[in-house]
Amino acid sequence: MSEHSANPSSATAASGRPRAVKAVIPAAGLATRFLPATKAVPKELLPVVDRPVLQYIVEEATQAGIGDVLLITGRGKTSMVDHFDRRPDLEERLAKKPELLAAVKRTEELAAIYTCRQPEQLGLGHAVGFAESHVGDAPFAVLLGDEFVKPAEPLLPAMLELQARTGGVVLAFFEVDAAETSRYGIASVEPAEAELSDIGEVVRVTGMVEKPKPEDAPSNLAVLGRYVLPGTIFDAIRRTEPGSGGEIQLTDAMELLRNEGTPVHAIVYRGTRYDTGMPLGYLQTVVQIASERDDLGAEFRKWLAEFVNSDASGGPNT
Ligand code: UTP
Repeated sequence: MSEHSANPSSATAASGRPRAVKAVIPAAGLATRFLPATKAVPKELLPVVDRPVLQYIVEEATQAGIGDVLLITGRGKTSMVDHFDRRPDLEERLAKKPELLAAVKRTEELAAIYTCRQPEQLGLGHAVGFAESHVGDAPFAVLLGDEFVKPAEPLLPAMLELQARTGGVVLAFFEVDAAETSRYGIASVEPAEAELSDIGEVVRVTGMVEKPKPEDAPSNLAVLGRYVLPGTIFDAIRRTEPGSGGEIQLTDAMELLRNEGTPVHAIVYRGTRYDTGMPLGYLQTVVQIASERDDLGAEFRKWLAEFVNSDASGGPNT
């Protein structure tokens, strides 16, 4: 269990409703944007310096007080679960290397990891539907397996608090350049109730549009891969027909709930978000995190600055 899991998980919001204490990480997708690397290696296990992306995501959950994590996996992806298993053979070998031993043990002690399989990749909503028997009718967090936020600028605690206060669906948005709206799900919003303002920059969601052209976009607020959902989402997923791409979309199930009166709110996140779902974002993530590391950041930054200015990089001297 996480060292963080004791305190906020038992917290209760001002409404008297308990906060979500379980997280679901849908990670069964085919990761086509990262082929061929992801033919045999799940994108969730691509390393960012010396930890797989998935570990940063589980750490984000445990930092918010969530110690129970369900990984939704698929064919060829069971190695994701192995990462959190105990390795007594490795521990024995590392007995005289305390730092490495601690790093290995940390992965085993982070959280209680559970797993289930999505037998066919029929969409994010379909994947989340498999969490029902683990989660029951309690609210829960969903963390997409290819994106995470900077630990010093957390997002999830505010989302958990907001969900406990409203009892509804809670999303997170980040601002994109107006020209880039066609790459994201974009929300239309209105001001939230004044009594929610102590939680952060909260908006009420009035609709969602998938990948609109800039001229059709209702805002420049794009959907981030974090959700806190009420248990009623499972019934909504069952009632959701395949939508865009023939997939059962989580967005459509949330829209169903919203149209039936469930409040939908979002936190506008202004911290640092790392998107590792495709090569450019992944490279940017590795460079940023490596640059900030206490153990190798100074040397890496020095090398990077020299490289960027060198002929080899096609930089300013060429
Ligand atoms: P993406 O839309 O990023 O799809 O899914 P993907 O397969 O991961 O990657 P691309 O677009 O083909 O490159 C968003 C999240 O939903 C999960 C993915 O694993 C990812 O975390 N997902 C998607 C499932 O678990 N099952 C699905 O059927 C679809």
